[in-house]
Order: sequence, then C-alpha cells, then structure tokens
Amino acid sequence: MRAAILRNVGDTSLDVVDDVTVGQTGPNQVKIAIKSAGLCHSDLSAMNGTIMQPVPAILGHEGCGDVIEVGENVTNLSVGDRVILAWNASCGNCNACIRGDYHLCLQFLISEGYTPHFKENDTEIYGFAGNGTFCEEMVVPDKAAIKIPSDVPYEIGALIGCGVMTGVGAALNTAKIIPGSTVIVFGCGGVGISAIQGAKIAGAAQIIAVDTQDSKLEDAKRFGATHSTKPDDLKALVDALTQGEGADYAIECIGLPVTIRSAYDSIRRGGTAVIVGAGRMNEMIEFNAFELFFQEKKFVGSYYGSANVRRDFLRLIRLYQSKRLDLDSMISARMDISEVNTALDNLRSGNIIRQVFTF
Ligand SMILES: NC(=O)c1ccc[n+]([C@@H]2O[C@H](COP(=O)([O-])OP(=O)(O)OC[C@H]3O[C@@H](n4cnc5c(N)ncnc54)[C@H](O)[C@@H]3O)[C@@H](O)[C@H]2O)c1
Ligand SMILES: [Zn+2]
Ligand SMILES: [Zn+2]
Repeated sequence: MRAAILRNVGDTSLDVVDDVTVGQTGPNQVKIAIKSAGLCHSDLSAMNGTIMQPVPAILGHEGCGDVIEVGENVTNLSVGDRVILAWNASCGNCNACIRGDYHLCLQFLISEGYTPHFKENDTEIYGFAGNGTFCEEMVVPDKAAIKIPSDVPYEIGALIGCGVMTGVGAALNTAKIIPGSTVIVFGCGGVGISAIQGAKIAGAAQIIAVDTQDSKLEDAKRFGATHSTKPDDLKALVDALTQGEGADYAIECIGLPVTIRSAYDSIRRGGTAVIVGAGRMNEMIEFNAFELFFQEKKFVGSYYGSANVRRDFLRLIRLYQSKRLDLDSMISARMDISEVNTALDNLRSGNIIRQVFTF
C-alpha cells in the first residue's frame, strides 16, 4: 500500500512509497482503511526533532476511515463502522484514567508508539505517535478508534482527530472559558483557529487573534476573532481593550518561548495562560520568583485539548452538525498523498489552515 515515510529525523521531505504492508490484527485491535488524513504542525515537528519519534516512521496522526477487520476480543466495533483515530487513547485502568484524566493516559502512546506496525520488505516501520495515518490501512487498539455517525464526512473526522480536538478542547476543557471573557489566541493555524472557535462557543466577549501573517489574521476574523494583531502591537491592543489590566485567558498555539512568555505577560493578575504549542525540550522560558506568587496567574499546559476522546469527538460532531463549529471552511486544500511534500511546504510558509489527503 501507499504511505508517506520519514526516513531520518532532520529530513525535510517524506518518501512516498507503494510497497508498505501492515501487520495482522491482534485480538484487541482493529484494522482501519484510512479515507482521509490531515496534516498538523506536529508532523513537521516529528521531522525536525521537536517531538521525539523513532524512525523510519509513517507520519500522520489525524485520520478517519472505516473498520475493515476486528480482533476476536473486540465487542464495541464492527466491520463497516466509521471511526476517527485518536492518537492518545486511554486504557481505562491506569491511575490517570481512574482519576478521569483520560488524556494523560500514557499506556497506548508508549506501547503503540514504540511498536512498529508496518513493514517495507524486511524493514520495520513505526507509526507517528502510534498512529501513522499517511497510509491506506492501519492496525490500532480498539480503544483508539472512536465510532462516529456514518454521515460525518471523512475529512471532517480527520480534522477532529487532532487539531480541532486540541484547540476547541483547550478553550472548553483546559481553560474552561466563562462567558463574557477576553481571550487571546496566539497562532492561527488549525489548532489556533479551533481555539478561537472554542472561545466563541464558550461565550467569550472579546477574542484577540495574534499571528505574524496577515492572511492568518484575516482567517481568524472569519472564524470568530473580534480583534486581530501582529505580535508587536498586542500590548497596546490588550491595554486598550482591558483598561491596562490584561486578558482573562491566553491560549498559545505556536510553541515558541517568546510567544509562551507573551501569553503569560498578556493576561491579568489571576488570569489563565494555556500552553498548547509543542515546543522543543532544550528551549527555556524565564520567570522571576516574585511575579509567580504576586500575579497569581494560572499557567497550564494543555495536552490533546484535555480530551476524553470518546465523549468529546461526538460533542464536536454535534457542534459541527448544528453549525456552531465551522470545520468545512478550515480545509485549505485537498490533495493526493503523493503531494505530501507540497503540503509540507505550504505548512512551513504558514498561509494555510489545514490540508487533507484523501485515500
Ligand atoms: N498540545 C497538544 O496536544 C498539541 C496537539 C496538536 C498540535 N500541537 C501544537 O500546536 C501548535 C500549532 O499547530 P498548528 O497545526 O495549528 O500549526 P500551524 O503551523 O498551522 O500554525 C501556527 C501559526 O502560528 C503562526 N506563528 C508562527 N510563529 C509565530 C510568532 N512568532 N508569532 C505569532 N504567530 C506565529 C504561524 O503563522 C501559523 O499561522 C504546534 O506547535 C503543534 O505541534 C499541540
Ligand atoms: Zn496534531
Ligand atoms: Zn490509562
């Protein structure tokens, strides 16, 4: 089958091949025929080493398709079911799951991420974060395949699998934005646009979009931002809108020390900065020992939108179906997987929201 493979960390392009095979479906696993896969910035981050990933690996962690085989112990899925892949499914048994922090379960990320599920001749191939949706078929634990109604378009399901869940979830689940708030969103890619939409759904009164690209600031306004600005003009805008106090929330969807620090600086005393962007392990952010206690700002990470994917994928679909979440307009381009390197260039240039591949 066809697949897009990262050969070495540091490569700037993926190798599109057509001779990859997928392993047998185990007793607690399902085999999925991928119909649509989205490109997220985290795929680029696996390529450049920001996010650790064993190689060779099939990239892609946004995916939607059909169940084509079920393992003998699987009772919750049947052949023909339409599913969204979750790149971080929860086992249900570990301490994180027992606490209800399903998104913090590491069980599958570790077991699947370090198990090569694919082969090219005799070479074993991993799947990014235990997924690897840039291929035609994959095998995953049944808990990582979330059944959705069969009338949800595959490409919409793919977007929900990472970017939309992460951004909307950061606003609703992590930040828990309250109506009437002022919210700043840093970075207006697929994740940031989703955070803007999440802030709007939560009833934010003012949503300030921050990006370096004019086109992205225009996109942000179409999706619900009430104000938009380049980073240099942010302070003046926030001061004017909040009488110098600062915003109630900032959601950082870029992953750079400068924007993470700016998220902290832009909120009021007692406000909440949510860090979604995936930065590098060797990049540091400084805080002084006085500001942390005196400002009483809440500075929190957000992993996969703090999602319970089994609850939240369906919640996002209901918001999409009731037209309160615009996912159709988030798709900037539809492509064949053979064009993956063009899509990566588009993403690097920063003027697209989401691109999807169809199989
Ligand atoms: N926390 C999680 O679980 C999780 C999940 C998915 C993605 N992510 C991360 O979220 C981030 C966003 O992903 P995406 O797919 O939306 O990326 P993207 O590349 O589509 O969007 C990033 C946006 O940030 C803008 N930008 C870049 N540098 C900037 C700067 N210095 N100031 C202002 N704007 C700047 C770009 O112009 C672009 O519009 C990435 O770091 C990704 O790895 C995290
Ligand atoms: Zn992602
Ligand atoms: Zn668990």
